[in-house]
Formats: sequence, structure tokens, C-alpha cells
Amino acid sequence: MFRKKQPKQEIHVDERLQHIAFIMDGNGRWAQRRGMPRELGHSQGAATFRKIGRYCEKIGIKYMTVYAFSTENWKRPQKEIDAIMKIFDEFMEDAFREMYDDNVKVRFIGNLSIFPESVREKMAKIERETAEKPFSLNVAVNYGGREEIVHACNALIAEGKTNVNEADISDHIYTFGQPDPDLIVRTGGDIRTSNFLLWQSAYAEYYFTKTLWPDYSEKDVNEAVEEFYSRKRRYGGV
Ligand code: FPP
Repeated sequence: MFRKKQPKQEIHVDERLQHIAFIMDGNGRWAQRRGMPRELGHSQGAATFRKIGRYCEKIGIKYMTVYAFSTENWKRPQKEIDAIMKIFDEFMEDAFREMYDDNVKVRFIGNLSIFPESVREKMAKIERETAEKPFSLNVAVNYGGREEIVHACNALIAEGKTNVNEADISDHIYTFGQPDPDLIVRTGGDIRTSNFLLWQSAYAEYYFTKTLWPDYSEKDVNEAVEEFYSRKRRYGGV
């Protein structure tokens, strides 16, 4: 049995780790294991999201992306979808605004056309109001990596392009203008990408943990960051 390396209490990242992304999985199981409805797991997950966002900003991360709702999540029972949408709505009324003080610049990524105009207006308002803040937070809602690439291609076609290169696609995906994620963390024990940041993840380091998202802590972030720095990124070189 080997002893798990204990991360240092205080960590600070450098330019090698600018962008961290989270697949926040395990909310439902967290609740079910406690005999509670799955919706309560999402409320707890939302609290964890705030805590982890604050911490990532504190340790010097510049960009954070969270997978909040996928294009496939609409297959869930309506009661659960409603609960997640209610949490978003509450965040848009209150928490995102409060997070401005934590230097957060919010961007909603995904196919937003599915949301009612009133919701899209709220999103646009939050994006406008936070535009000058230094810590970028991308909230992926109705997001699918394949949909994003198709969206980029259609935007390029609409511009009249008949031939495209990689830079063109990068300039038309939802995270345009931002560096690709350096580290993608998935909680909840599954080892798959689930259509998240397909284009952007080409050279990302993946970190998988069995910890369920509502239990995810600052210490867990430290562990993922330490693991990231222990890896050699070769980008196809030697
Ligand atoms: C995956 O866990 C989680 C989701 C589909 C929803 C994530 C939403 C939040 C964390 C709340 C709101 C977030 C923001 C940004 C305001 P799961 O339900 O698939 O868990 P399971 O695998 O245990 O069933």
C-alpha cells in the first residue's frame, strides 16, 4: 500500500495552467446515497461550484469552464430538468452577480437559442456587466461539443468561406479568444469525455476522480493541480 502524496496547503498556479475545466458529475448519486431526491444533489452541486470557482480564482487560474447542462441532459425526467433550470435562474438573479466581486467574468457557452428570450436577455446582461473582470468563467448550458463544431462550421459558411483552417474553427467556437483548457477534471468516477470541449481538449490533460461533485473540495483541486504539474506535456513532440 503506498501513501498518497499530501499536497501543500497553499498552492499557486503559473502560466502553464491557465484554464481548468470541470465535468461536475455525481450530484444525483450524492443525493440518492443519502435517501434524498436527486434535485437536492444539484443544489449541493451548485454550492460546490461557487466554492470551487472562488478557490480557482484565488490560486491564480485565469479561465474556468463548467459543464452545467449538456445537449443530452434534456432526456432526464422533467422534474429534474426543472430543478436544474430553477438553480440557473436563481444564480442569474443572485449568485452570478455576487460572484462579480470575486472578479468573475461570465460567458455562457452552448446553443443558447433553445432558451426563452427573457433568459437569454438575462445571460447577455450578466455577460455585459462582467465583461471587464479578470477571471473568466464559462458556464456550459445546452452545450455539446459536436454541436459547437457544427455551429462554428455554419458560421464560417455564413461568412462565405469555402475553405477553412484550424484557426478559423478556433475563432468560431463558443470559447473563441480564450486559451484551450490545460486540465479537465471529471468527478463522479466515470472515465469519458461526454461530448465536452471536443475541439478544445486536443492537448488537455485529463484528471478523473471518484469523488462526487458535491463532495469536491479545495484539497481535491490541489491534488489535481499537483498531478497536472507532475505530467510532461509533449504536444506530440518528444
Ligand atoms: C451531473 O451530475 C450534473 C448535472 C447534469 C448538472 C450540474 C448542475 C449543477 C452543478 C448545478 C448548477 C450549476 C451552475 C453553474 C449554476 P448527475 O446528475 O449526472 O449525477 P449522477 O451521475 O450521480 O446521476
